[in-house]
This record gives sequence, C-alpha cells and structure tokens, in this order.
Amino acid sequence: MADKASAEKASADKVVIRPVGADERAVWEPLWNGYLAFYKATLAPGASDVAWQRFHDSSEPMFLLGAYVEGKLTGIVHYLYHRSSWTPGNYCYLQDLFVADSARGLGLGRALIEAVYEKAKADGCSRVYWLTQTSNAQARILYDQVADVSGFMQYRKLF
Ligand SMILES: CC(C)(COP(=O)(O)OP(=O)(O)OC[C@H]1O[C@@H](n2cnc3c(N)ncnc32)[C@H](O)[C@@H]1OP(=O)(O)O)[C@@H](O)C(=O)NCCC(=O)NCCS
Repeated sequence: MADKASAEKASADKVVIRPVGADERAVWEPLWNGYLAFYKATLAPGASDVAWQRFHDSSEPMFLLGAYVEGKLTGIVHYLYHRSSWTPGNYCYLQDLFVADSARGLGLGRALIEAVYEKAKADGCSRVYWLTQTSNAQARILYDQVADVSGFMQYRKLF
C-alpha cells in the first residue's frame, strides 16, 4: 500500500493550473478570504468586486490563476503587469498567493509561482517579483528555492 508521502505526490500529479473562470467566484472567494485573514486584512467595501471584475476584463493587466486538485480549486495566485522606466517590457508583480491549509506542502505554491513565470515570460515581462514579510518562514522556504532575495526594503506611505 502507498505511504502518505507517495499518496500526496500522486495527488500533486493531478494538479491543473489554469485561469479561474468568471463563473467561479463562489470557489475563489473562500481562498481569497483565507488569504486576507492570514494578513488580518479588511478591504474597503467593493474592493474584492473590483478585483474580480478586473481579473476577467481583457483590457486590464491583472490576472488570476488557480491550482485545481482533482477538479477542486485549492490554491490561487493574483498577478499584474506594470510599466518600468528600466525596460521596454513590463514587470510582473505577483501580489497574492494562497494555498488551502489542507493542501500545503504538496507543491501547489511552487506550481502557481512557476505558472506565473511562464505567463509573464510569454507576455514579454523581464521580471517577476513579490514581497513577503521577513517573518513568513513557511513561504520563505519556498521562495528561497525559486527566486533570489532582492535586498531592497519596501517603504510605504498610506493615504
Ligand atoms: C506560502 C504557501 C503559498 C506555500 O504553498 P504550498 O503549496 O504549501 O508550497 P509548496 O508545497 O509548493 O512548498 C514548496 C516548498 O516549501 C516547503 N514547504 C512549504 N510548506 C510546507 C509545509 N507546510 N511543511 C513543510 N514544508 C513546507 C517545502 O520545502 C517545499 O519544498 P519541496 O517541494 O522541496 O518539498 C502556503 O503556505 C500559504 O498559502 N501560506 C499562507 C499564505 C501566505 O503566506 N502566502 C504568501 C504570502 S507572501
């Protein structure tokens, strides 16, 4: 009989990464809310509606991919493209990444980041970058394997 590790790898083999459709808000929302809860964040009323609409508006440079395990949406990543004064092509900012608690450590986070790499590269971006809290040890185990630490600090002024 297969042990737990190989059973998990077997489920990871069944992962499909694809854009989350406009008719799938009901399955995206719990993951999005899980991510916001992770950051103890409360958004302004209507902010999620605007984000959702932008993900599905072909004129907006804002995108959403989902990781589906046996057909169930289990992880999400949001990313966007923006101009740079340093390159003719855009940069890609990977803004939000979240995997359901029950599916952590199966490779979904890595698969979602790599899918963003593929999309951004195909769309002419010269970099994918993101921020994380220095204290986010779990995420940083993954990030240290797939990207380099930039050494830049983020300054922020809120309005
Ligand atoms: C960060 C996060 C997206 C990682 O997703 P994940 O699907 O669990 O990550 P992966 O399975 O792709 O992990 C890749 C590596 O990280 C390590 N890792 C990640 N989660 C782990 C866990 N729960 N236990 C042990 N190792 C873990 C493993 O070393 C793994 O490497 P391996 O493939 O060589 O074994 C997920 O933990 C999460 O949603 N956290 C809460 C929200 C968050 O922090 N988002 C990122 C904000 S910047």
